[in-house]
Amino acid sequence: MPIMEKEAASGRDSKMLPKVPVPPLKQTLDTYLKCVQHLVKEEQFKKTKAIVEKFGAPGGVGEVLQKKLSERRDKMTNWVYDYWLEDMYLNNRLALPVNSSPVMVFPKQTFRDRKDALRFAARLIRGVLDYAALIDARALPVDFARGQLAGTPLCMEQYYRLFNSYRYPGLKTDTLEVQMNAASSAPQHIIVACKNQFFVLDVVANGKQLIETEILSQLEKIMTMAENAAERLPPLGILTTDGRTEWAQARDALKKDQTNRDSLALIESGLCVVCLDEPSGLDPRDTNRSLLMLHGGGHEKNGANRWYDKSMQFVVGMDGICGFVCEHSAFEGIVMVQCSEYLMKYITGSPSKMAKASTVRELPPPRRLLWKCNPHIQGLLAASGDRLQKLVNNLDMDVFKFNVYGKEFIKKQKMSPDAFIQVALQLAFYKCNRRLVATYESASIRRFQQGRVDNIRSATPEALAFVMSMTDERATFSDLEKMRRLIDAINAQTNYTIKAITGLAIDNHLLGLLRIAKELNMEKPEIFCDETYLASNQFILSTSQVPTTVEMFCCYGPVVPNGYGACYNPQSDHIIFCVSSFWENTGTSSAVFVKALNESLLELRDLCSRSSAAATKRADSGQGAGQRHKSGK
Ligand code: COA
Repeated sequence: MPIMEKEAASGRDSKMLPKVPVPPLKQTLDTYLKCVQHLVKEEQFKKTKAIVEKFGAPGGVGEVLQKKLSERRDKMTNWVYDYWLEDMYLNNRLALPVNSSPVMVFPKQTFRDRKDALRFAARLIRGVLDYAALIDARALPVDFARGQLAGTPLCMEQYYRLFNSYRYPGLKTDTLEVQMNAASSAPQHIIVACKNQFFVLDVVANGKQLIETEILSQLEKIMTMAENAAERLPPLGILTTDGRTEWAQARDALKKDQTNRDSLALIESGLCVVCLDEPSGLDPRDTNRSLLMLHGGGHEKNGANRWYDKSMQFVVGMDGICGFVCEHSAFEGIVMVQCSEYLMKYITGSPSKMAKASTVRELPPPRRLLWKCNPHIQGLLAASGDRLQKLVNNLDMDVFKFNVYGKEFIKKQKMSPDAFIQVALQLAFYKCNRRLVATYESASIRRFQQGRVDNIRSATPEALAFVMSMTDERATFSDLEKMRRLIDAINAQTNYTIKAITGLAIDNHLLGLLRIAKELNMEKPEIFCDETYLASNQFILSTSQVPTTVEMFCCYGPVVPNGYGACYNPQSDHIIFCVSSFWENTGTSSAVFVKALNESLLELRDLCSRSSAAATKRADSGQGAGQRHKSGK
């Protein structure tokens, strides 16, 4: 079984929450048809409809699977958790950088020199230790839902996986191992990567955690050791940037040697990785900082100064380019934001706790992790480096700060900002491609025990009707009609969102039915072999809202070769979009998409402004008439 939680997860807080529901079968099948009808050809849809109706007919396969799924729900804390985790992450063979691991990009820091950068790193590590202690003590305040259906408590379990998870590569599927240990046996070391070398930094000495000054002194020793070219070892971290199967094979080869096994065990059991990056030589604008967080700039820059299996990697670049790289299988972006914000506030908010030299302990130097490499492993390192370089060369990233308005303007239109932005993304995609495609928007289901996410399928038929009215070259649609369609599209999106966050979306449910059929050794039901189902799971547009309250932003890569990743961070007066795609795909271009998105957001604003001006005018003239009438009376 690919997911292993050592010791029962502390579900103390989460047990109060309801279990994720299994939606009614008919509701899911009807929604599925509605979601795909306008995205496939008419002939194909007819075929799909017949398949779906057969599947859902009384006494049909669907009913059998639904019954089994309901039984699974009764037995388990969260019936979809394992299925979802395997499908979304562990079975995916693609390399983690760009394809899977999201990153937080911190504001560019100004470091006077290396020592200054190390001071920042020491502070960050101290913040990490304090945050980890809060988690160990289960002392984090419970999160409550905001936005739609605000106020309900949310499941906190993802936090408990932040510092004690490790994703082991496997030949067919990976394993996420989570050590749910008591605080007393919590990891006592972190791994520091510097010049592609890995060091064990013990954060506890003689039963007492290191203070900031001691951490700084240890980091300085690491820097000196890493600079010693004679002792430099091969850049093993590059192997973790590779496809999961390739890395699993390389890891098997590495593990033949006891030295390597020891080094791997230390990395796997550490609290987190801190990557001290060499200056990248790149202009530190938003897009470049995102690229460097996503892939480290390849093996010639900091691409090997990483260990991607580890859930938490904090990057401190000597040139002030800093951020946070997350292995995604253990938790969602929202938890990553909470942790990042805590750390940034810790770093900037409180005075530095540098102690006087007299109170600083003299500690033994951190240990360099040793590796034994034979020519076979050297060959694997070179091959992984080449593949990472291809990924680096292929990523087309564009961070776009839309400054004209933010969510306050949208709220004034009495519309959900998230739904509005999703409709703008659909309009942008339509402008570029004259069609809509299967779209993924992550919806948190943390209202439920062990809840992760489901999917809001944002390419609704109402969105299509709206974008067609906006792009109609014959200008046949009046503002009134466009506005009516916009409101329909926003309502459809908002309603889908509410369904998704209350556990009634279709993607998890369909996955559950598929997996139950597999477990029963049934022939794969036709509905899941159908061309429409396959296309509807190719998320050409993969979107996610990751809002922050501190200056920073999240980004990630596309999930299919011909797709876009679009992560957005709505602020009151601006919105940050991180759009990614692959250069190799001639049908996509992040810059073209961003241009269309900018136009779309402006057109939406103009439409809303014209419509409200017209409504005011109508009301004024109506009011005037009313007054006349009144006075006439
Ligand atoms: N009129 C005026 N204001 C409105 C409104 C309307 N019709 N509809 C919503 N609003 C307000 C909300 O009250 C909220 O106010 P707040 O800023 O004071 O909290 C704000 O607008 C935002 O609401 P909305 O835009 O509707 O979005 P949301 O916050 O409910 O978010 C999701 C929707 C789907 C993004 C959210 O439920 C979710 O699941 N987030 C997690 C996504 C995730 O997992 N990302 C990481 C993936 S790795």
